[in-house]
This record gives sequence, structure tokens and C-alpha cells, in this order.
Amino acid sequence: MKKGADMKIAGKAACIFVLLTITKLTRITGNRMAAQAGHSAVMTCPHRTRATMVTWKISPKIGGPCTLGFRADQNLVNRTNCSDSVKSEFKPEQFYALEIQQVGMADEGNYSCELVNQEGNFHEMYQLTVLVPPRLSLYCENHSNPVCEAAAGRPAAEISWVPENNSTTEIDSHDNGTVTVLSRFTAHSTNRKTVTCKVYHATLNETMSTYCSSPQSDLILYITIALGFLIIITFMAVIYYFKLHGCRLCHKTKPPDTSLTHSLEDDTTEVEPYTTYVQKENTIYNSVSDLTGGQNLPCGLSTAK
Ligand SMILES: *[C@@H]1O[C@H](CO)[C@@H](O)[C@H](O)[C@H]1NC(C)=O
Ligand SMILES: *[C@@H]1O[C@H](CO)[C@@H](O)[C@H](O)[C@H]1NC(C)=O
Ligand SMILES: *[C@@H]1O[C@H](CO)[C@@H](O)[C@H](O)[C@H]1NC(C)=O
Repeated sequence: MKKGADMKIAGKAACIFVLLTITKLTRITGNRMAAQAGHSAVMTCPHRTRATMVTWKISPKIGGPCTLGFRADQNLVNRTNCSDSVKSEFKPEQFYALEIQQVGMADEGNYSCELVNQEGNFHEMYQLTVLVPPRLSLYCENHSNPVCEAAAGRPAAEISWVPENNSTTEIDSHDNGTVTVLSRFTAHSTNRKTVTCKVYHATLNETMSTYCSSPQSDLILYITIALGFLIIITFMAVIYYFKLHGCRLCHKTKPPDTSLTHSLEDDTTEVEPYTTYVQKENTIYNSVSDLTGGQNLPCGLSTAK
């Protein structure tokens, strides 16, 4: 019996200890909250019933603190130094929610709700950060180098490239808490390609592609094309020249040989009949001379005689 009672007491103590550590942890860490600029943000008080008093304490990063108090017994709301954009209807069914209608940079900071009821004091803490989506652009610097820009974002955007390559990043922090990130793609060897820039941000993920033609590579291309044309034209000119002059040369070099021989042959054939004719005549003459009692002498000689 005594042992069981001891166990019960030990269990209760452990429970209380666990509860205490949990409340302590929630108090220390709070809730991280992110709201996009221009949008609304809603924070609630601890979910406890029959609150007698509820107090919102706001500690902005810039400027002085403000408090919004509510007393249930008198149904009274008390505001000190809070801007009009911060509102609460202090309704139990809404957990005494605090609403910021249009979140601005000035609203960034710590928000805590303290709720008091018969059971004690309870706290809820929020750390509000304001997100600003960056303005994205992708353009060609000097008509050749791709530049990806995420302007005036909060927090700073992350930029990566496809194909993955060396890039230089410039980060510019502005007075209003926004950051401009500028990434230059620095692969000059592969710049005759479409490149893709990827922007990662809490408010958006964007992929953009562009194609930048570099004047250098264009020049090389034009020169290559021009050279190619020149080579083709020269080749064609040479072929044409050989076709035209090559035939004349053929007629002049080879045919002259044949024509010469031809003419020689012609000459001989022209001459031969004559000689044969002459010879024939001579033979006739010779036969005549034979008849006249002469010898078979060469015709020339006989005629010379
Ligand atoms: C908000 O709370 C955190 C943690 O409790 C603290 O580090 C930070 O300084 C507080 N900021 C403001 C503006 O009070
Ligand atoms: C709150 O506003 C009052 C004037 O309404 C001013 O006197 C006081 O200094 C302000 N308190 C803070 C903490 O800014
Ligand atoms: C962006 O992408 C990451 C993963 O790549 C994802 O975790 C995140 O939710 C996305 N955010 C938006 C706003 O789409």
C-alpha cells in the first residue's frame, strides 16, 4: 500500500517536471512565423478557457514596443502605442487572436500573449519575420554574359545555374531590409547555349532560361562561314578554269601531235599518190624508154637525162 502511494507521488512529480520543461521550452523557443509583405498574419494566445486577462506585447525590431490589453470582467480593451494595422477582437472562440492586416517591414519582431485565468499564467511567443518576394530578371550583359537577378527580396534569394558552372554572386543589402542578389554566369567556352537560372526563395521557386550570343563567337562563326564560301568559290573557279582551259590545252597539247602526224601522213598520202603517179608516169616513161632501148634506170635520172 505504501509503495503504491510512493509510486503515485513519483509519477505526479515526473509529470509536473515534464510539463514544466515543456512550458519552459516553448517559452524559450517560441514560434517562428513568416508572413509575406502585404498579406495578413494571425497569431493566437494559449488555448485556455475562462481568461480573466489577456495581454499582447509587441516588441518590433524597429521602434518602441506596444501593448494591447483586455480585461474580461470589464470587457475593456487598452491600447498603448500600437499601430492601426494591429488588431484583436479578444474573442475566446478565436483564442484572443491578434491580426496584422497588411504586414509591413516594420511589423517584424516578437509577439507574446499572456493569458491569465484561475489556473495561472500562460504564454505564447511568436518571432515574426517578413518575407518579400524578389523581382526576378534574366538578361544578357553586353549581349553575351547571362545575368540572373533577384532584386529587393527578403531574405536573400538563392540562385543556381543549369548547366552547373562557375558563377560570381553579388549581394547588395538595402536600407529597408531587402537584399538584391545578382549572379553572373561565367562560362565563356559554352556560351553558344541556352542557360537556365533557378531562383529559390521562401515565397517562390522560379526557373528562367535565356540564350546570349556573344559577339566574339558570332565573329568566329561569320568568319568561318565566309571562309567556307571563299573556299567553295575558289574550288568551283578552279574546276571551271580547268574545264575551260583544260580542254583547250588538251586540243593544243595532244591533238597537235596527232594533227601534226595527221598532216604529215596527209602530206605523205598527198605526196605518195603524186610520187606513185610520177613513178607510174615514170614507169610508163621508163617502159617507153625501155621500149626505146634504155635501161631500167631511176626515173629521175632517166628523166634528167
Ligand atoms: C525576440 O526574441 C528572441 C528570442 O527570445 C531574441 O533573441 C530577440 O532579440 C527578440 N527580438 C526583439 C526585437 O525583441
Ligand atoms: C508611447 O506613446 C506615448 C505617447 O502616446 C509616448 O509618450 C511614449 O513614450 C510611448 N512609449 C513607447 C515605449 O514608445
Ligand atoms: C521551393 O522548392 C523547394 C524544394 O526545391 C521546396 O521545399 C519549397 O517548398 C518550394 N517553395 C515554393 C514556394 O514553392
